[in-house]
Amino acid sequence: MRKILVTGGLGFIGSHTVVELLNSNYEVIIIDNLSNTSIDVIEGIEKITNKKPEFIKLDLKEKNQVLDFFKKHKFELSGVIHFAAYKAVGESIEDPLKYYENNLYSLINILTSIKYLDLKINFIFSSSCTVYGQSKSLPITESEPTVSAESPYGNTKQVCEEIIKDFTRTYANLNVVSLRYFNPIGAHPSSIIGELPLGKPQNLIPFITQTAIGLYPELIVFGEDYNTKDGTCVRDYIDVVDLAKAHIASLEYLQNNDCETNYEIYNVGTGIGHSVLEVIKCFEQVNDIKINFSIGAKRSGDVEIAYADTLKANNRLKWKSKISLKDSLRNAWKWEKHIRIN
Ligand code: WQD
Repeated sequence: MRKILVTGGLGFIGSHTVVELLNSNYEVIIIDNLSNTSIDVIEGIEKITNKKPEFIKLDLKEKNQVLDFFKKHKFELSGVIHFAAYKAVGESIEDPLKYYENNLYSLINILTSIKYLDLKINFIFSSSCTVYGQSKSLPITESEPTVSAESPYGNTKQVCEEIIKDFTRTYANLNVVSLRYFNPIGAHPSSIIGELPLGKPQNLIPFITQTAIGLYPELIVFGEDYNTKDGTCVRDYIDVVDLAKAHIASLEYLQNNDCETNYEIYNVGTGIGHSVLEVIKCFEQVNDIKINFSIGAKRSGDVEIAYADTLKANNRLKWKSKISLKDSLRNAWKWEKHIRIN
């Protein structure tokens, strides 16, 4: 059985992971409630892989619908990759209950169904480096303590990790890898799928590409007096295709039963930190375009520096990032032009 359930499989990271799953000869069922994506993404996945994944529109907050799904598919599923969650930091501060209800209930309903049906299954959870806050030591290792999150979004990631950890203590038939993503960027090199620009961009790279294409007059750089090489914040920008491949590596790791425990955490990043100004300069050089930007006030909740120690994923998952910042920014620009023209 190589059928994998991918929740949130039409989202940015989910769709790129579905492509890599299909290219690795897994069968895929996608559950998505389409709240933050478009059904057209399926067509894009099919165009790239020449395979059409099964799709079910379902809201994971509906407990009975989730249980009915697992009853129907319990004999064919070997794994679950759980992406489905709201992820806008700013929105989570405005509307925390929306985030706690959606992100926690979705996970709890899946785990409740697995337990009720006594399924033996591999599970990959989409977590975030946000759980570390401003780490005291760099690069950040998985043993770095988590600190109370700066946003309800970040807190839902921490609480979900705790829920999974406590559940796996009582339920040995669930083997879990929690992947703590650093900053996902870029787009599939085909420009057929990428990060859909729904609403005002929250993150740096979509803001850069939408400024470059003329949707915004300028980019505001949030602060330039941090204690970094050029005063702007440093992050670990991981290409979405490399990130997708980390999920395949995690599935293979779980299937080979090499796990030390049935709940393991891995950082997924490049291990390299880049400042905001370095990213802007790299984007300009690789795409031969000028970005209009000015320096603004610091954004509350921003950590100063965050980049990953990736040795654990390199050694145990046999996974390492390969795509350069230049290539990620080239693909991000190609995607932006593609969605504006087509
Ligand atoms: C990166 C840097 C900003 C926009 C968040 C979530 C994290 C993950 C990735 C989901 C920061 C600066 C940004 C702008 C700027 N999300 N910036 N001007 O905040 O590191 O992480 O997104 O998994 O969980 O917390 O990413 O892209 O918002 O910011 O100067 O218009 O770019 O200050 O230093 P962040 P980001």
